[in-house]
Amino acid sequence: MIKIIAAITDDGLFGQSNGILPWKCKEDLNFFYSQIEGKTCILGNSTYKTLPRLVKSLVSELIVIGNSIKVEDWKSYLTYLEEMEDEIVILGGKSIIKQCLPYSDQLILSKIHKRSLKPLLNPLDFIYFPELALASKVLPVNSVLSASENHVTSLYNLRKYYENVRHVVENPVQDR
Ligand SMILES: NC(=O)c1ccc[n+]([C@@H]2O[C@H](COP(=O)([O-])OP(=O)(O)OC[C@H]3O[C@@H](n4cnc5c(N)ncnc54)[C@H](OP(=O)(O)O)[C@@H]3O)[C@@H](O)[C@H]2O)c1
Repeated sequence: MIKIIAAITDDGLFGQSNGILPWKCKEDLNFFYSQIEGKTCILGNSTYKTLPRLVKSLVSELIVIGNSIKVEDWKSYLTYLEEMEDEIVILGGKSIIKQCLPYSDQLILSKIHKRSLKPLLNPLDFIYFPELALASKVLPVNSVLSASENHVTSLYNLRKYYENVRHVVENPVQDR
């Protein structure tokens, strides 16, 4: 089972150029920890550089894509990992999720309410991920896994539905 876990605001804000998340949402963070504890996790080189120490200590293994691990064929690579581990969790960032979306089983996506944005942010540093925001709009929600006044985390079944929405998600049109 390959799971992507990520968070985004309703308008597609995903991160910042310094790698620090632009929001503070304790409820979502606690849910995130519960999902990665004891798991084998994949992440990109950039996300690894700003990864909190707690995350490193919670997971059972971190596979950092970049320097020494280059992946050309994600389908084969994820299949290979799945043969060794029951569950692989993909932690980001944007480039890794983009490449893994077509080959993953589940997307666990938190929608973060704008009230959780940190103060004094510079919008010029914002990284948006419209394809992911769009995926969450066109895929049916399988179930809601966690919710508070500051976030809602939904589970999407990618294996079942991604092929139907691939053309929309991978070729996002402005103002959709
Ligand atoms: N909201 C969320 O849930 C969430 C979660 C995590 C991160 N983020 C945000 O995501 C952003 C970072 O995303 P990103 O796309 O810049 O970085 P990233 O996906 O974490 O890492 C990108 C790096 O990974 C390596 N890489 C990617 N694909 C590869 C492949 N197929 N083979 C070998 N190496 C590969 C490259 O490293 P080299 O250049 O070293 O080769 C590339 O520069 C930040 O804004 C962060 O805040 C958000």
